[in-house]
Amino acid sequence: MEVATEMHELNNLTVIHSIQELQARLDRNERQGRTVGFVPTMGFLHEGHLSLVEQARKHNDVVVMSIFVNPAQFGPGEDYDAYPRDTERDTQLAAEAGVDILFMPTPEEMYPQEGGIHILPGTQASMLCGASRPGHFDGVLKVVLKLFNIVDPDRSYFGMKDAQQLAIIETFVRDFNLRTDIVRVPTVREQDGLAKSSRNVHLTAMERKEAPIIQQALQQGALLFAEGHAVAEIEKQVAEHIVANSSGCIDYVSLLSYPALTALDEPKGEAIIACAVKFERTRLIDNIIITKKDGSYVQNDDEQ
Ligand code: PAF
Repeated sequence: MEVATEMHELNNLTVIHSIQELQARLDRNERQGRTVGFVPTMGFLHEGHLSLVEQARKHNDVVVMSIFVNPAQFGPGEDYDAYPRDTERDTQLAAEAGVDILFMPTPEEMYPQEGGIHILPGTQASMLCGASRPGHFDGVLKVVLKLFNIVDPDRSYFGMKDAQQLAIIETFVRDFNLRTDIVRVPTVREQDGLAKSSRNVHLTAMERKEAPIIQQALQQGALLFAEGHAVAEIEKQVAEHIVANSSGCIDYVSLLSYPALTALDEPKGEAIIACAVKFERTRLIDNIIITKKDGSYVQNDDEQ
């Protein structure tokens, strides 16, 4: 730990590929009370990831980031091979952002044997992306548990763009008494409202122009929600707005309770409107969280 802290003072970054080496470096007995903040990613870093680092930097003595494109969370025919990767640029960005330790294991290091134990998430994973991508969240939980066991972080930082993932991980930590606090970090957006995502790089120029319609449609949905419209009507209007103004195909638009992700027969409590939209080479997700404050509904603050 002393080394990692010293490295940060030198604005230096330690890159580690081996689980054993990282575990030795982060051993709780060696920490001497220093806190570890963890930012798990699949790389191709953008401002969304960097805002996770910023939060982790504020509240912890040591910041660890992992970059691992996790094969276990990609289904057959999904974009595992095409997922954007740029290790050199990521390393540079992580160093500039103040990451102390960058963990970049190979698939063989993370999954040396086939088969083994699978983790089965509950009903939260049967909705939204879980319905469109069977097994996706099993793979997310598997890697997240491995990473938590390897890093043993005091706090772990996840972005609200992946609101379903975040809700499932919070439940996982609660149900299995995992020893880390999950910190929710707001979605970071482009000027025109498009949520930052590594996958945005696969949009054509025309699709990139159209994509901000997703957030605009969700905001309209939030207004309808505040006015008390029926759930099915809101979902329909959001979907129609996206289809009418872009070449994207709707995978889903759903209005559910958050973070339980159960059906909302009528608008009440905290809610999420989430959607997934397929463009030619990529599928984008986004959401809006709506909470009740002083009797009326307000959107949660996003960073723009
Ligand atoms: O959100 C992501 O980038 C991934 O799902 C995560 C949490 C790093 C697990 O592979």
